[in-house]
Amino acid sequence: MNLLFATTNAGKMKEVRALLASAGIKLYYLKDMDIAVAAPEETGATFEENALLKAHYYHNFYRMPVIADDAGLVVPALNGEPGVYSARYAGVGANDAQNNQKLLQTIKARKLDRPEAYFKAVVALVTEGEEHLFEGTCHGRICNEPRGGNGFGYDPLFELVEKSCTFAEMDINLKNSVSHRGKAFASLAGYLKKIV
Ligand code: IMP
Repeated sequence: MNLLFATTNAGKMKEVRALLASAGIKLYYLKDMDIAVAAPEETGATFEENALLKAHYYHNFYRMPVIADDAGLVVPALNGEPGVYSARYAGVGANDAQNNQKLLQTIKARKLDRPEAYFKAVVALVTEGEEHLFEGTCHGRICNEPRGGNGFGYDPLFELVEKSCTFAEMDINLKNSVSHRGKAFASLAGYLKKIV
């Protein structure tokens, strides 16, 4: 089965190719396509809406099975912030350091101490006439200061309590085995193995 992963991120593509290797899938990503199309705006209010919106958009354009993912960090004590705004929490175009700083400032202003948080990832699969959603979550806490040099995004602030380390202190294999994204794609791989 040919499957298009709606991403331009080579790092993500490599990770997901490995996760789907055993599922009998030939995986393509947007840079493999002969004709390029502008990315859709992620206007959804939830991760599910954004993942579906992207998968349908590219499926309508390329007419082949498509997967698209959306993920982010949720802090329940902050009413779910940063949530779907994770990539642009400190403003459109903000970098990881600015987003992390905004999160720490917000937590401090609300006088919270190491609040509980979770990462959530949703993968949408859209084929002719069908759509399916797969999700994964990973629960932990937000630390008082960044720790570790690996990973990206909020990794230095997200502590997996049972391992006493942040995502940024883990190697990529350990992170994939416990992460929201790893779980969501493992669930997709299980489904694909059944239908391919
Ligand atoms: P995306 O939908 O996977 O591109 O994720 C959107 C944003 O959520 C990223 O820009 C990060 O800020 C945050 N995020 C998602 N997954 C992770 C993760 O595994 N570690 C750290 N931050 C993440």
